[in-house]
Amino acid sequence: MQDDKESGLTMTPQEMRHLATKATEALVDRISGLDNANAWDGEFHQVLGQQLGGQPPETGQPADKVLELVLNKVLPNAARLDHPRFFGFVPSSPTWPGIIADFLASGFNINSCTWLVSSGTSQLELTVVDWLRGWIGYPETAGGLLTSGGSAASVEALAAAREAMGHPNNPVVYMSDQSHSALKRAALVAGVRREHIRLVPSDDDFRMDVTKLSEQVAKDRATGLHPIAVCANAGSSSTGSIDPLKALSDYCTTESIWLHVDAAYGGFALITNEGKQHLEGIQLADSIGLDAHKWFFQPYESGALMVKDLQHLENVFAMGHDVLQDTVWGANHPNFADRGLQLSRAARALKIWMSVQTFGMSKFRSAVQQGLDLARRAEDYVQTSEILELMAPVELSVLCFRVKPKGGRYDESFLEKINREVLVRIFWNELSFFSSTSLKGVFSLRMCILNHPTTWEDVRRTLELVTQFGRKALAES
Ligand SMILES: Cc1ncc(COP(=O)(O)O)c(C=O)c1O
Repeated sequence: MQDDKESGLTMTPQEMRHLATKATEALVDRISGLDNANAWDGEFHQVLGQQLGGQPPETGQPADKVLELVLNKVLPNAARLDHPRFFGFVPSSPTWPGIIADFLASGFNINSCTWLVSSGTSQLELTVVDWLRGWIGYPETAGGLLTSGGSAASVEALAAAREAMGHPNNPVVYMSDQSHSALKRAALVAGVRREHIRLVPSDDDFRMDVTKLSEQVAKDRATGLHPIAVCANAGSSSTGSIDPLKALSDYCTTESIWLHVDAAYGGFALITNEGKQHLEGIQLADSIGLDAHKWFFQPYESGALMVKDLQHLENVFAMGHDVLQDTVWGANHPNFADRGLQLSRAARALKIWMSVQTFGMSKFRSAVQQGLDLARRAEDYVQTSEILELMAPVELSVLCFRVKPKGGRYDESFLEKINREVLVRIFWNELSFFSSTSLKGVFSLRMCILNHPTTWEDVRRTLELVTQFGRKALAES
């Protein structure tokens, strides 16, 4: 029989304050020292396994010691995605109020599942979703929810599409050859057979070819398959290309096919006038996924799914359960668990809301615009360089380029070898971090310029280094 005593899983107020203060100091030091730190750090499994593996200890150790271990051996072994010279994949630089919001939400132990359980953060989610609705230009019928990210938003969008299309047998989903792997995975989860996920060829500017799409749809209908959704890119991850949204919407309306837009990377460009022009037509889509942990400066996981008619989400996801019968509390109180996959949900709206309240939209707008402007300057740099070549139009803030001296004739395998070598040198130099992509089979260096602390000097120094390493690799080859 257990004594009537505490479990032992609590700390005294002094211990709690001490640990939180040490963690806060470490975070502030890290963030304020980023510019002088490497853009990347990592360690091999053989080393980390030794240091961090093993069975859970039967007896604990002082919290200070555990924190030290985490601060020294765990957390520094990571890409510094918020570094001013981190341009790899899709970076992210969260603002401090957003970080604090995640801490508060954990400490207040908020489960943003239903209005009864968390009315405060449910209201913030309604507020943030309404901001998104306004930025997109969606009608009053629109709504949505915050998700873990673009992958979850895609799954939920395609489940809604399948339901709206009558849940047919043999569904087919269309996307371009530039679409993110998250969309293919989402189609599979939504019950589309692998062989019925169509990758429609893109044109020379990496935008979906609508004629080729319509040919494929006609072919599929003729063989008894059921097209349910077209997934367009609004900022493809390789080049930032934006599919012809208006033409796709016209086509999908005529054909009665759901149009989903993957704006996970590019969506928040909408808050600027320039971005709005690039993304014109997005408001015609049936659903849109966009990630605040990319171009809206929030900590992971801050995705969103918006649908033009909110009812479509609730048609799929609203499920009663006996144990939840008390959660219907008050009139017009939405339960966000009725809109997506998760019942227990983090209070994601808190970080977005707190950081916008703190800085105001004009600062967010300037920070997004800065990414667009820096990418344009980087494009000019590449175009006027004697040694660099632009590989794709710069639509948003992705720069695809490679080392290829102007006027020279080189075969593709030679160029790939040189550029791979440049990337390796950049990697080991550690001033900056960026990655590569494959553009229809051609190797390309790729910089995604997104972080709010990034300046032209950061971009220029990185491109200068590429030039220097490129010349060296060419001379040595
Ligand atoms: C265009 C695009 N779509 C979808 C995703 C997947 O989003 P998440 O990583 O938030 O699940 C990404 C991730 O980088 C992306 O760039």
